[in-house]
Amino acid sequence: MKTAVFSARRYDKTMLARANVAAAHELRFLEDRLTAASAPLAAGCEAVCVFVNDNVDADVLAILSQLGVRLVATRSTGYNQIDAAAAERLGIAVVRVTDYSPYSVAEFAVGLLLAVNRKIARASWRTREGNFDLDGLMGFDLHGKTVGVIGTGKIGTIFARILSGFGCTLLGHDRYPSAAFEALGGRYVSVDELLAGSDVVSLHCPLTEETRHIVNAASLARAKRGSILVNTSRGGLVDTEAATEALKTGQLGGLAIDVYEQEANLFFQDLSSTIICDDVIQRLVSFPNVIVTGHQAFFTEEAIGQIMQTTIDSISAFERGEELVNRIPKS
Ligand code: NAI
Repeated sequence: MKTAVFSARRYDKTMLARANVAAAHELRFLEDRLTAASAPLAAGCEAVCVFVNDNVDADVLAILSQLGVRLVATRSTGYNQIDAAAAERLGIAVVRVTDYSPYSVAEFAVGLLLAVNRKIARASWRTREGNFDLDGLMGFDLHGKTVGVIGTGKIGTIFARILSGFGCTLLGHDRYPSAAFEALGGRYVSVDELLAGSDVVSLHCPLTEETRHIVNAASLARAKRGSILVNTSRGGLVDTEAATEALKTGQLGGLAIDVYEQEANLFFQDLSSTIICDDVIQRLVSFPNVIVTGHQAFFTEEAIGQIMQTTIDSISAFERGEELVNRIPKS
């Protein structure tokens, strides 16, 4: 099936091509991000394959529909970048990747937590400069601390299991409590109680209208003073400017983010030779108790292999008119 693959980086091309050997779909790799301006590049294709920062809103879907596109396959779990209702109206099926190594993200979240708490990146920069001073590098033991997990689905539960191994007490918040989380000794509480009682808060829920800015100025004011916030889920869960203010006052003791609300214009590209005009992220990365990575939590061989295989399998199933097991719910 002719498929336009937007936001295609070198690893997308290699891994998707590898997964496509047997299916032999005709893949058109495009480095462009999908927008209304770039959508015509999908002319002649029945499917488009997108990633988290592609813009698949109603306008773009209307253009794709006119071009004859009938399937949108996102190489991600989250699908907040896609207007599912508009796709439904236009008769465009949307599939995502529900199952790929949740360990990739959970393990990375733990890595970010350790890096920000124990100042590992700072220490590494220092030793490169020949500075072996320990001043400013003190962290705290995770053992015996309370960790709050918002969203105790696949990734959140694995994160909780790892932290349980560190000897942490677990608090959770989720619309649907999980027996696996409770089996770890986790206790479900309200968001406010979780924030007030946790030394570390990690976000693992999807971005929806309900969860947008679930961490905001008001909730940060209720959080335990000096706590660390980890976000490997979606940038829109956190009001970044409110988090910046909380860092300035010490209300927030550390911030570790792999996702950022305005990441669409920044992430997945090398901007090191340009002037970055996003003052919010520039201010954040200047803080000694902040670590920012560019949406790489999923980026392991295992996860990427599964993502690409599932994507190819979904395109094949669509072409054969089979049921789409990874079709996203109608909104
Ligand atoms: P999942 O669907 O297994 O778990 C999500 C959990 O969030 C569910 O238990 C759900 O009930 C809960 N939830 C939904 N609405 C909620 C609310 N209002 N308040 C509290 N909890 C709520 O999803 P999974 O696989 O664990 O992924 C979680 C998120 O991680 C994804 O939505 C995605 O945004 C993010 N992600 C980030 C990646 C990265 O590379 N940084 C890669 C993959 C996923």
